[in-house]
Amino acid sequence: MDYQQKKKLLMIPGPTNVPERVLHAMTKPMINHRGNEFHDLYKNIQEKARKVFETEQNIVVLSSSGTGGVEAAISNIVKKGDNVIIPVFGEFSRRVAQYVRLIGGNPICIEAPLGSAPSFEEVKAKTEEVRKIKAFCIVYNDTSPGTKINWLDKIANVALDFNAFTIVDAVSILAGDELPMDKWGIDIVVTASQKCLAAPPGLAILGISEKATKYVMKNEIHLEYFNLAKYIEYSNLRKETPYTPAVPLFYALDEALSLVLEEGLQRRIQRHRITAKAFYESLEAAGLKPFVKPEARSNTVISFEYPENIEDKKFRENLEKNFGVVIAGGFGELRGKIFRIGNMGEVNRYHVLTTLNAILISLSDFGLKVENEEIIQNARRTLEAV
Ligand SMILES: Cc1ncc(COP(=O)(O)O)c(C=O)c1O
Repeated sequence: MDYQQKKKLLMIPGPTNVPERVLHAMTKPMINHRGNEFHDLYKNIQEKARKVFETEQNIVVLSSSGTGGVEAAISNIVKKGDNVIIPVFGEFSRRVAQYVRLIGGNPICIEAPLGSAPSFEEVKAKTEEVRKIKAFCIVYNDTSPGTKINWLDKIANVALDFNAFTIVDAVSILAGDELPMDKWGIDIVVTASQKCLAAPPGLAILGISEKATKYVMKNEIHLEYFNLAKYIEYSNLRKETPYTPAVPLFYALDEALSLVLEEGLQRRIQRHRITAKAFYESLEAAGLKPFVKPEARSNTVISFEYPENIEDKKFRENLEKNFGVVIAGGFGELRGKIFRIGNMGEVNRYHVLTTLNAILISLSDFGLKVENEEIIQNARRTLEAV
């Protein structure tokens, strides 16, 4: 592998660039996952994760990607015949509806066109119409269009009225934007290691409320690996996982959580806001159109429409080959129409300016006239606050 290949700047919406400290943590010797060293490691992870999830409640870690975490959360709560309210506004929220369907649940989807999100009023109205509801399953930030729900803080009150659970897929947003789990009254929050936490892929981390814990511990489900009752029991009583954990990833997660807390969660969220602002302002100034409506724009996934005559594959290849910058295209019906930048984890002045520079020069390569210098100077000013 040559140097260029190794040193790419990974600006896709996860996995993100992993800090050296986190990478090094994975080279520690293997330990007994039923011994005291692992117990300490797991306890540390739980304590730190509680601060990042802003919860006093249960934290469990699954050796699986985010999908496993989301599917586990849903499968441990939703049963055959249960009504589940799901705002659908992208590929990941569509998948959530599919997980509910697979269990035999009844997904009640409130759809919004790509680039926007269902409003709180629409969700509330549907809820009042259906009334018998087992859970709200909400993707806080749908990574496929780069769209964020901006009313998550209000949903728990509604759920309370209907004695329903709130399950939140926060895979592409937790630690990059606000999500105080306890304050907002969310029952299960799921995230994954490879996004805003800036650890390598392979772990799903779940915050589980007392109410959800009580339910899960009594609930009979036909699952072995993703049986959350076992994870809760093992993590609380023994500081272990029921099955062999991906130990090097646990080391990495522990270090990544330390980095979040050393920076301070609120400062980290603010940094994501500022870097997002720099991306949106600069690319709009270059004449590009953000894909998402202003009120639903994400700070962690920045998506822009391609101008006519720019071919997605060629554009991104140009960025990667000439600048070592890797961004993502769209998927599903957005393939070829948008590009997406992961504004996650370590993202800082260097990441933004390098990515912007590469995009602006590439736009010129593809025939667009762009005032690169002025745009970069403005971005530098915005980024002074980081
Ligand atoms: C919002 C959201 N949910 C779920 C997932 C699935 O996570 P994973 O690919 O880690 O299984 C992703 C991955 O990008 C995501 O962005």
